[in-house]
Amino acid sequence: MLCSLMLLGCKDEKKTDMPETTQAKTKSSIVKSDYATTKKGVKIEKYTLTNANGMKMEVITMGGDIISLTAPDKDGKFEDVVLGYTTPDLYLDGNPYFFGAIIGRYGNRIAKGKFTLDGKPYQLTVNDGPNSLHGGKGFDKRVWTATPVEGDAPALKLTYTAKDGEEGYPGNLNVTVTYVLSNDNALEISYEAESDKNTVVNLTQHSYFNLSGNFAESIESQELELKAGKYLPVDATLIPTGELKAVAGTPFDFTKAKAIGKDINVADDQLKKGLGYDHCWIFDDAANTLKSVGSLYHKASGRYMEVLTTEPAIQFYSGNFIDGTKDSKTGGKYQKRSGLCLETQHYPDSPNQPSFPTTTLKAGEKYSTKTTYKFSVK
Ligand code: GLA
Repeated sequence: MLCSLMLLGCKDEKKTDMPETTQAKTKSSIVKSDYATTKKGVKIEKYTLTNANGMKMEVITMGGDIISLTAPDKDGKFEDVVLGYTTPDLYLDGNPYFFGAIIGRYGNRIAKGKFTLDGKPYQLTVNDGPNSLHGGKGFDKRVWTATPVEGDAPALKLTYTAKDGEEGYPGNLNVTVTYVLSNDNALEISYEAESDKNTVVNLTQHSYFNLSGNFAESIESQELELKAGKYLPVDATLIPTGELKAVAGTPFDFTKAKAIGKDINVADDQLKKGLGYDHCWIFDDAANTLKSVGSLYHKASGRYMEVLTTEPAIQFYSGNFIDGTKDSKTGGKYQKRSGLCLETQHYPDSPNQPSFPTTTLKAGEKYSTKTTYKFSVK
């Protein structure tokens, strides 16, 4: 049911005080509606953001999940390019694949769910074999508070406070994640956080992209480029061994755009461990500024997605654990490799690996990162 309608930054064609490049073709808007109610009776809202070009994104307050995102192909045809469930219950009852979710307090794995900070040991929830994955019962399973933000493009601010001791982490952590659907067809994500005690933080977004718009089509033909000369090999439980390995001469080399399926099935111990790609790549440019770090391209539709981030690394996960049991938005079931994640972040298990860039957030300090997924055609 539609319960309220807000039009934000709605500039129509007659308005002339906007710069040429942002001259809106249609009205951008945010529409709020009821989405579903959890078993505990909590109401989950949905926000539909539409930018000036007609690109649409739906976000729910459970997990801050992006449940759909459309992008135009080379003929201007808009199709959904992110995987999602066909009914609310899977989002409400644990989101088994983390479809479209905000991930925290710590993206990816922490070995055995243990770390020591300021000499004090912490035990986190263990939820992935012997390890803690994506914050335990993490931010993807929490209800966020949403506030539309006024501006030229539709934007949604989501806030959540993780309690001191929640899932084992120290510090009350105030988190704000803002999604902007810009009028140059970019999904811009800002992550901000502040804690009242020293803690560890590594936030990311877990959308599964498939630029074909047809989720029955494997992502293996899509071309990926990662400006990363090194990656982190993992052990049998997918914890980085600590080595930074050169990608040159290995299936992990995406320094030049390459079809994901090209080397995914070659005999390689690391690919065997990940059941495909499920590793962290280290960007050549580690600067804490918004820089272009790679791209994804689907030739048949012409859809091209550039990734920009302030983060030093990215977990590229080729959807290896999708098990053919969940209905797809485009018919049939989602299969292994129906979608892929490009999770910009710090390195997994950093709290236990002093040689990795730190993920410690000191009390009172501001955590602030940005990632942009920019859509175009070529
Ligand atoms: C991350 C991990 C994967 C998997 C997915 C969720 O990307 O690296 O191993 O756990 O999340 O299914």
